[in-house]
Amino acid sequence: MNIQNILKKEKLSKTDLVYMLTCKGEEEKELFMHSKAIREKEIGKSVYLRGLIEFSNICSKDCLYCGIRKSNSKVARFDIEDEHILNAAKFAYDNNYGSIVLQGGERNDNQFIERIDSLLKKIKKLSNNKLGITLSVGEQTRETYQKWFKSGAHRYLLRIESSNKELYYKIHPKNDNHSFEARLECLKTLQDIGYQTGTGVMIALPHQTIEDLADDLLFFKEFNIDMVGMGPYIEHADTPLYTDKDLLIPQKERFILSLHMIACLRILMKDINIAAATALQAIDPIGREKAINIGANIIMPNITPTEERVLYQLYQDKPCTDEGADECYSCIEKRIQMANCEVKYNEWGDSPHYKKRKQE
Ligand code: 5AD
Ligand code: FES
Repeated sequence: MNIQNILKKEKLSKTDLVYMLTCKGEEEKELFMHSKAIREKEIGKSVYLRGLIEFSNICSKDCLYCGIRKSNSKVARFDIEDEHILNAAKFAYDNNYGSIVLQGGERNDNQFIERIDSLLKKIKKLSNNKLGITLSVGEQTRETYQKWFKSGAHRYLLRIESSNKELYYKIHPKNDNHSFEARLECLKTLQDIGYQTGTGVMIALPHQTIEDLADDLLFFKEFNIDMVGMGPYIEHADTPLYTDKDLLIPQKERFILSLHMIACLRILMKDINIAAATALQAIDPIGREKAINIGANIIMPNITPTEERVLYQLYQDKPCTDEGADECYSCIEKRIQMANCEVKYNEWGDSPHYKKRKQE
């Protein structure tokens, strides 16, 4: 087995993917060159922006890895006022971002559902229906997803975190509020309603094997997913999973493995949107650019008002928590050029995969 033979194949097996995920030296270079070439051929050099607004860290979930989990009493909770969320959306619109992501802790109460609904309508209005809106607020009922879709959300991100059920329960509490099946069901519902549906996993989790990661990639394919955001797992001292930190590979290796995952996914699913996750930047200052260079095509600049940013610490040393949106904005253009790509302004940047799926 060698990388050249594998890269010639039309259909990649789990064994092929394991090989691709672990190859080194010259073979690694070839892998990255190949994924980069596919990216240029299939989707060009364009990179689309999603202004990320992390509007609240109040969460009803208790995921064992997450710094803002419900049981972490050390974290100060915030919930950005609607007016400030709308200002951030206006900032995105005025600066030609094309679309935004509203991300926050999961809540299922009526007040929350209505609030999101009203924000969606207001954001659509303030942007003359132009700004695309992605939601990322966890598991909800079909009615809720439907309602938000009608009010203007057209994309939804819900990471599966791991497609291995056993591993899923090693990183989530075993109770009804953290059901693997429920998560799968939500993903299906989102697709069924018509959302562009995004998912993803954490890479190099404790107890995770390379085979698990190969299965994750095949899961994305099997599920016919439109977009993927995935990044390295980064330990957080105030979470239960921290006790397993001795099982982790060094952060640099987690980063490299994440790049391999992105390259493999680009080869496996040529026309989907792949985001360069923020967690990449937590390990390597130009981590997201490296991801863009080898196949990712989406970047999510943080446009959350600065005061609240420090409180949205999913993991330690989260980057860009002390910069305002303006500062972040000015560096994007340069960063993308560094990665040999170009920013496309004022576009939704739907994945070609989604467009094809809709025509089928
Ligand atoms: N390390 C990396 N990513 C994390 N997330 C949550 N906690 C961590 C962590 N410790 C990711 C999860 C979630 C997304 C919002 O953030 O994948 O879906
Ligand atoms: Fe589930 Fe934060 S509590 S990802």
